[in-house]
Amino acid sequence: MLHGIRFFCAIGILLAACSDPSPATDAAVDASVDPADEGTTDGGAPPLPALLSETSLFAAGVDGPYAAGVLTYSVRHPLWTDGAEKQRHLRLPPGGTIDTSEPDHWAFPEGTRVYKEFLVDGVPVETRLLWKTGPTVDDWVYVSYRYRPDGSDADPVPDGEADVRGTTHDVPDQAGCFDCHRGGGDFVLGIGALQLDRVTFDRWVGEGVLPPEAPWEEPPGDETERAALGYLHGNCGHCHGEVHPLARMRQMRLRLPVGLADADAAPARTTTVGQGAQHLIEGTDTLVVAGEPDRSQVYVRMGLRDILQMPTRGTEEVDDAGRAAVAAWILAGP
Ligand code: HEC
Ligand code: HEC
Repeated sequence: MLHGIRFFCAIGILLAACSDPSPATDAAVDASVDPADEGTTDGGAPPLPALLSETSLFAAGVDGPYAAGVLTYSVRHPLWTDGAEKQRHLRLPPGGTIDTSEPDHWAFPEGTRVYKEFLVDGVPVETRLLWKTGPTVDDWVYVSYRYRPDGSDADPVPDGEADVRGTTHDVPDQAGCFDCHRGGGDFVLGIGALQLDRVTFDRWVGEGVLPPEAPWEEPPGDETERAALGYLHGNCGHCHGEVHPLARMRQMRLRLPVGLADADAAPARTTTVGQGAQHLIEGTDTLVVAGEPDRSQVYVRMGLRDILQMPTRGTEEVDDAGRAAVAAWILAGP
């Protein structure tokens, strides 16, 4: 019986919103638009570097010191990638400054490069690159470099690759990068007022990387609310925010706006509690039932790893800690 319901839902969602490129009626299909159709990989943009060693991350080769001008930072609400360890780095063009005039969506100067290194059990498996090759959001190019078995360098894998370097870690394809990152405004998701770690923030203001008036803040509410709202912001808000095309099809918002003083006013609460979901999944069709995680689709879908899983991409294992933070918030009756 359960299987019957699940199968029905899966088909409904496949037709409505999954990444099947065939014509469909639900505009959430836009979520699968080929980046090449969006002008992000053509228009005379410089080609992506052919090797990781040519991306200007390292002073030489693919280990040892980072190149001069590479700024390492961390985020407060990291994306869960099945427990992989990550190192994040920003490289601005000489004299470049981040534009924070739109507090929710910081903008980056032409020439910006951002890197994220992934390690599994201490072994580097891939390094992701975002590079703004022109003045507009359409000028970002992006790919992941997968390490060679001997670790001597890493090659771009635009189509992604499963189980790299003898691990169960999968590298996403370019359509995957685009699906998540276009929800960020100017493509960068983890450098913002709610995400950048405080030590780096202070240092970057001092160094002129950020303007003196740049905003920085904690999510609102008590400890339980801050943990859940921050988690949902960092792990779900790029698709379930105002910018992603999915916003036209679904009312739910899990991204936190900057400047919100009251946790009760958080979109993750006002658009979910007592609100109906599009599909019946695991016996629930409500996004959040206060006090009842198991009847709340936001929590239930975080525990799936199949066609109905949330997030839809980038993970094969449930994030128990993140899911517990969301459960505690729902139990407290948001
Ligand atoms: C499931 C959604 C998702 C997918 C797929 C994804 N990313 Fe990201 N990425 C994120 C989020 C969220 C962050 C910020 C949080 C963090 O760093 O943990 C991020 C951070 C980054 C960063 C650091 C700069 C930034 O935006 O914060 C780089 C570089 C990056 N991703 C590149 C890529 C590339 C290249 C691909 C495709 C090969 C890719 N990502 C696929 C969600 C995703
Ligand atoms: C890569 C984009 C992406 C990310 C990241 C993502 N989602 Fe979704 N989500 C979707 C899409 C597309 C749909 C609509 C299709 C569906 O229901 O499967 C959806 C639908 C949902 C729904 C049902 C909404 C409704 O109105 O019926 C819930 C609940 C949900 N997501 C929860 C989450 C949670 C919680 C996270 C983070 C842990 C998350 N999602 C992260 C793409 C994403």
